Amino acid sequence: MMLQIQKKQNYNFKSINKTLINKSLVALFATGLFAVLANSSEITHKQDKKTLVKHIDSLSNEEYDKFILGRSFFKIPWVEAPSATTARDGLGPLFNANTCNSCHPSNGRGNLYNENGSLSRSVIPKLSIPSKGLKEELEFLKTNPLIPEPTYGGQIAINGTPDARFEAKPEIKFEELKVKFPDGEVDTILKPTYVLNDLQYGELHKDTIITFRIAPSLNGLGLIEDIPDEQILANADEFDKNKDGISGRVNYAYSPITKKKEIGKYSWKANNTSLIHQTADAAINDMGLTTTIFTEDRCTDKQIACKEAPKARHKIDLPDSRLQAIDFYIKKRQTYSAKKDDSYKKGLKLFKSIGCADCHKESFTTKSGINISPFTDLLLHDMGEGLADGRTEFSASGSEWRTPTLWGLSLHEKINGKKPRLLHDGRARDFQEAILWHDGEAKASKEAYTHLPKEKRKKLIQFLERL
Ligand code: HEC
Ligand code: HEC
Repeated sequence: MMLQIQKKQNYNFKSINKTLINKSLVALFATGLFAVLANSSEITHKQDKKTLVKHIDSLSNEEYDKFILGRSFFKIPWVEAPSATTARDGLGPLFNANTCNSCHPSNGRGNLYNENGSLSRSVIPKLSIPSKGLKEELEFLKTNPLIPEPTYGGQIAINGTPDARFEAKPEIKFEELKVKFPDGEVDTILKPTYVLNDLQYGELHKDTIITFRIAPSLNGLGLIEDIPDEQILANADEFDKNKDGISGRVNYAYSPITKKKEIGKYSWKANNTSLIHQTADAAINDMGLTTTIFTEDRCTDKQIACKEAPKARHKIDLPDSRLQAIDFYIKKRQTYSAKKDDSYKKGLKLFKSIGCADCHKESFTTKSGINISPFTDLLLHDMGEGLADGRTEFSASGSEWRTPTLWGLSLHEKINGKKPRLLHDGRARDFQEAILWHDGEAKASKEAYTHLPKEKRKKLIQFLERL
């Protein structure tokens, strides 16, 4: 009932909007502002807690229903099987959270810590072991990003249903490092060590590679998905032919949907090829929900109780129609992008002048003709030893990372009441610390930043804080 009322009000509001728009169309055509109008229904400059939860204006009745359905699967807690609510059972046996929303609060970025100071569930410990190059391993790696740890699999679950124990309690420890600027200013950065306490299923394989990943913001993903491949490829320069020290390359990742290698776009090493692929990956690995893409629960052969845990009534916890509804929900939300006023333009000039935009590309035009400013090239870059985690994912090496988008980070404080923790594991407490970790292909750009006069460094940080 509540839903219906809300919906009705929404439609009334929309139809008013539509008449207004129709009336002003002629004038807009005449002034050449039409492109701006086309953008404005998808992109918002409004900064509040709910910005990333709102849908775009142009949804039909049917689409609106699908959006609300997708939202419910994103937000309403899943329960373990078997249960009376068959639409939402199937959680686990091993899982990290029972909703997508608990790691991507209001579609924003996850936090590093909980209120009580413990590590947040938004940070996921991932595991792998190096390939020995055996024939069967190489065969496996054609369709999988890496070899999972034999006992715990590819990821540590911090929760389990009563039938399957959680796997471990992750912790992140930091050591302070001092960084001195050429002008004498000193800042500290935090070097992380990843710790897994209370391992419940015995020792890890002796060569286990552990990495921690914080949940990124889901701002603007529908528009990112709509970037034509040619625009991504146009920025790639794998062998650094233009000799600028930057050799971005695509992570060609295997899509279990098309059964082909495609341009990887999502997650910190770009190992997922589409939003539906990424969502199915999150469903199985983060929540223990099977889909037609990943049909088996993530218990390893050594986790007997997990394997024998009661199954949901249906083999597939999240059938295609529901998976598609979540995908639709993620895509049809408004995208936050900073207003391009004079101070933005000045900041952007400075950002470009020190090479930040060589990877954090400001501008793309989507297939539907919308100009967007996500500040990424979606390519992999070698970021040096300090950020390396030793984990390969398809063609991404241990020190390569996909340039993250920068839009929407300014909403984090509105949503969570604190500043975002930056970089793949949340080690950076502010923008300057994030820049100071840049190395490898980004070394020259970092040094250009540290050599700026203090006043300009401040201006650049202020620009980043508004994105
Ligand atoms: C336990 C925490 C957790 C849960 C639950 C979770 N995610 Fe995530 N999500 C993450 C982390 C961490 C990453 C980054 C993963 C990586 O880089 O390997 C991520 C990445 C993503 C991305 C890629 C974003 C980008 O810009 O590359 C999308 C999309 C996403 N999640 C959607 C979802 C959806 C939809 C659900 C629910 C079905 C979900 N997530 C559940 C933690 C979570
Ligand atoms: C060679 C490519 C490259 C250049 C040049 C570059 N970056 Fe990055 N940037 C990256 C990559 C890749 C990451 C992710 C690294 C990680 O998380 O380990 C990143 C991460 C960041 C982050 C953290 C984003 C987040 O979501 O946590 C910020 C902020 C940032 N860069 C700003 C800048 C600024 C400012 C400059 C210019 C001084 C710059 N970058 C230059 C590639 C680059």
